[in-house]
Amino acid sequence: MYPFPALLILVVIPSISDGQHETTCNVVPKDQYIEVGSDTEIVCQTSCVPGKVFWTLNKIPVDESLSHITNSSHTVVTLRNFTHHIATLECSSVDTKQVLGGTTIRTYSKPGKISCILHYDKYFKSGVPQLLTCNWEHEIDSSLAVNYTVLIDPNQTKICNSTITTCTAKHSVDLWQNSTVTVRARTTAWEASSNTYTFNPYHILKMSRPEIKVTTFYDHLLVEWNRSPTYQKKCHCQVQYKKAVNESTPEWVLNKTLTSDQRGSNVTIEKLESCSNYKFAARCALDKAPWSEWTNKTILTKLNKSDVKLRLWRKVAEPEKNGIRKVHAMWVEIPSTCQGTFSYTIQQTPYPESTTGVNNKDHICGNSTCDVYVNQDAHRLHLTVFDNEHLLGEDSVYVPAIGESLPEVTDIQTSTLEGVILVRWKAPVPVGGYMIDYTHDGNHYYWKESKYTNATLFGLLDKKPYNITITPLFGDKTGHGTQVFQICSRIGDPGNVNISNVEPYDKSASVSWIVESQEACSGAVVNYTIFYYTQKGPLLNVTVDGTKQGILLEDLNPDTQYNVYVRATALTGATKSTDRVFETKTFDPRLMTLLSVCGSITIFLVLSLGLWCAIQWKKFKEKPVPNPGLSSVALWPSASSRKGACPFQPFSNPSESLCDMVYTEEAQRTSTSPLATDCNGNTASEQTEEYVVAPDPVKSVETQHLPSPGESTALIFSENSPTSPYRSQSSVETHTLRTSKQCKRVPVKQQEKALTVYVTLDMFEQGQGR
Ligand SMILES: *[C@@H]1O[C@H](CO)[C@@H](O)[C@H](O)[C@H]1NC(C)=O
Ligand SMILES: *[C@@H]1O[C@H](CO)[C@@H](O)[C@H](O)[C@H]1NC(C)=O
Ligand SMILES: *[C@@H]1O[C@H](CO)[C@@H](O)[C@H](O)[C@H]1NC(C)=O
Ligand SMILES: *[C@@H]1O[C@H](CO)[C@@H](O)[C@H](O)[C@H]1NC(C)=O
Ligand SMILES: *[C@@H]1O[C@H](CO)[C@@H](O)[C@H](O)[C@H]1NC(C)=O
Ligand SMILES: *[C@@H]1O[C@H](CO)[C@@H](O)[C@H](O)[C@H]1NC(C)=O
Ligand SMILES: *[C@@H]1O[C@H](CO)[C@@H](O)[C@H](O)[C@H]1NC(C)=O
Ligand SMILES: *[C@@H]1O[C@H](CO)[C@@H](O)[C@H](O)[C@H]1NC(C)=O
Ligand SMILES: *[C@@H]1O[C@H](CO)[C@@H](O)[C@H](O)[C@H]1NC(C)=O
Ligand SMILES: *[C@@H]1O[C@H](CO)[C@@H](O)[C@H](O)[C@H]1NC(C)=O
Repeated sequence: MYPFPALLILVVIPSISDGQHETTCNVVPKDQYIEVGSDTEIVCQTSCVPGKVFWTLNKIPVDESLSHITNSSHTVVTLRNFTHHIATLECSSVDTKQVLGGTTIRTYSKPGKISCILHYDKYFKSGVPQLLTCNWEHEIDSSLAVNYTVLIDPNQTKICNSTITTCTAKHSVDLWQNSTVTVRARTTAWEASSNTYTFNPYHILKMSRPEIKVTTFYDHLLVEWNRSPTYQKKCHCQVQYKKAVNESTPEWVLNKTLTSDQRGSNVTIEKLESCSNYKFAARCALDKAPWSEWTNKTILTKLNKSDVKLRLWRKVAEPEKNGIRKVHAMWVEIPSTCQGTFSYTIQQTPYPESTTGVNNKDHICGNSTCDVYVNQDAHRLHLTVFDNEHLLGEDSVYVPAIGESLPEVTDIQTSTLEGVILVRWKAPVPVGGYMIDYTHDGNHYYWKESKYTNATLFGLLDKKPYNITITPLFGDKTGHGTQVFQICSRIGDPGNVNISNVEPYDKSASVSWIVESQEACSGAVVNYTIFYYTQKGPLLNVTVDGTKQGILLEDLNPDTQYNVYVRATALTGATKSTDRVFETKTFDPRLMTLLSVCGSITIFLVLSLGLWCAIQWKKFKEKPVPNPGLSSVALWPSASSRKGACPFQPFSNPSESLCDMVYTEEAQRTSTSPLATDCNGNTASEQTEEYVVAPDPVKSVETQHLPSPGESTALIFSENSPTSPYRSQSSVETHTLRTSKQCKRVPVKQQEKALTVYVTLDMFEQGQGR
């Protein structure tokens, strides 16, 4: 309302200065804030137009009855019970429909729904509560900042300021009187006060948390709590408890009311899970007053005797020579989550228990197993578990006597399905049940009971062989166990394949491999597939059956690098070797080997020949020179008698026969004749052989500078030994020996024709002396 005159002046003054006073039109007041639900009046100045005006609120025409004309220049509209949060009001001329002016009207509300509580701060938990906290609700236009003030009677004392709808005051109220508070909201545009709120201090008094104590016993649990001692008034308390786990669990609430003179109380709780964490909480409240905060406590429950399930079982080893048997007793250990000092004791007693017998033995055992020794008689093992002195549980198991006639199961069949072993067997006689125990390492045993003649063994280690024993149970005794061995929980992949050798040739390669299976449960190889490929080539493969461990890869390219690997396939899976790289040869190495062997042999032969020739040459050079002075003349025998070879007795020296050998073909065929061998250190056959082999006059001329054979003369050796006394005949002979290839029969024939007398030389006379 108060901005109204100012605005009017502001509007009027420019109009006057314009000299258009009578034409001024306007709507006042502008930008009005009113309390929600209140009434307001808006004036339209209509000097600028003749005639009547009409109003619209948010473009909707306002009922004409609400509008009335004050005088010729002012029309007033009265809006009652205005609830619009924000609205636009416009004044228009009826004649021209022209908008003469407008204004916005906003509403505000006053704070409401005040509630206060009296409470304690963190440190003071008794006496009159020190703190008064009030909350209220307020709908506001968020564009304006609001300051709240809480005022308390008497005297409207300001006890706290806030910019939010809650406020805590350090203020002690008189507990014996009703109190009244008001909340005032103030912005730059408006101010609003709440209605008064009167309260009985006891009804808004929030007690401090109770003290709580939880004690666990073996078979129950006691929760005790004490309320704050200040008020001698009746109060209600609640005890809540639930299992402390992440997922939501059921929770229980116990209600208990304390009379004005009761300081505290307790409840007994049963049927809780053993060795579990439970959350306990307690809170209290005066009559009609708000609850205190919860007091929380987490407690680990004790082991309930009824939850102890020892499931005692035993494995009886083969008896030693003296009949003593080792019995491995085993049971389910008390979970490590349980608090306590647990002691396990095994007592062995003969069975049936003799009243007089005093040979009961106690064994202090570990947490889950115990080895005891019994003789060949039947026994019972008793297990007891104590937590300190408190007996928590007991169990017993029967150990049959050796050879005791007891039922046993037969025909055990097993099957494996995805890591689970199914066992079934034939029952001996009707029995109460069966104990199935199984182990994969002989140290760790698992056991379970079955009512039926079958069992499913879960939770097995993967690909491990299990030994399984089934023992019938009847009455308080057991029968004899029947075992099956090495049942795999799952058949695994075949063992590791390794390429052991690759032998590359030019167009093929032989590949061999080995399979190493460490595990007992690896699958049998059904087939092997050998994959091989070049850098750019396709992946080729060959498959062979599982019995083979080698293959010859064919149709390879020579001088090419190949990769090869082997995959072993079993019914349960496959494994593959690592890649092996090899390079094919340019030529077949076998051919190369053959060639090199042949080459070696050839070279050897050539070398041998060369050596032989050298030796021959050397020998020839060393041959003793005949002395012509010792020569004599004789008649050459006829052709027929010449066959006898060396018929000249005077020539007793066998070397002379050499001459004959030189000239007779027969000599080479009779090389073994005494004469032939006698002729020289060189065997006749060797000489004659050379004669036959290479009659090449041209060569010999070149190398020996010989004239044509037919011209053999004394001059022949003039070059080598100018002083040579030899005659042509002997020269020819000697010469042929020296140059093996030169040896010819041609000159001999000529000589045969030409000569009837031959000069023999006792040429070895000197040579023998040498
Ligand atoms: C008309 O009434 C308003 C108040 O209602 C007054 O201020 C104004 O002077 C009046 N005008 C005339 C011409 O009487
Ligand atoms: C407090 O107010 C209640 C009503 O709200 C009234 O019944 C009661 O008598 C008052 N107590 C005191 C002490 O004034
Ligand atoms: C609100 O309170 C603050 C500080 O107390 C003050 O600066 C501000 O001017 C107040 N605003 C109003 C609208 O009263
Ligand atoms: C305890 O009281 C609460 C309400 O105060 C109620 O909801 C609950 O059912 C009560 N519990 C019992 C066990 O009576
Ligand atoms: C222990 O078990 C028995 C039998 O189930 C039960 O009655 C008792 O309440 C349990 N004790 C606790 C503390 O859970
Ligand atoms: C038995 O269990 C306790 C705790 O439960 C542990 O401290 C102790 O070492 C265990 N003893 C053996 C032999 O495992
Ligand atoms: C299973 O029994 C066989 C035969 O008695 C034995 O050789 C093998 O060691 C046992 N294996 C295990 C894991 O006990
Ligand atoms: C075991 O035998 C019982 C009774 O014959 C049968 O109901 C159950 O299905 C069998 N379990 C398996 C896994 O064969
Ligand atoms: C190799 O054995 C597996 C498994 O039996 C089979 O599936 C596959 O066809 C065999 N491969 C060849 C090439 O025979
Ligand atoms: C082996 O090679 C043949 C073609 O020779 C092809 O069809 C087959 O798929 C290959 N096998 C594998 C396992 O790559």
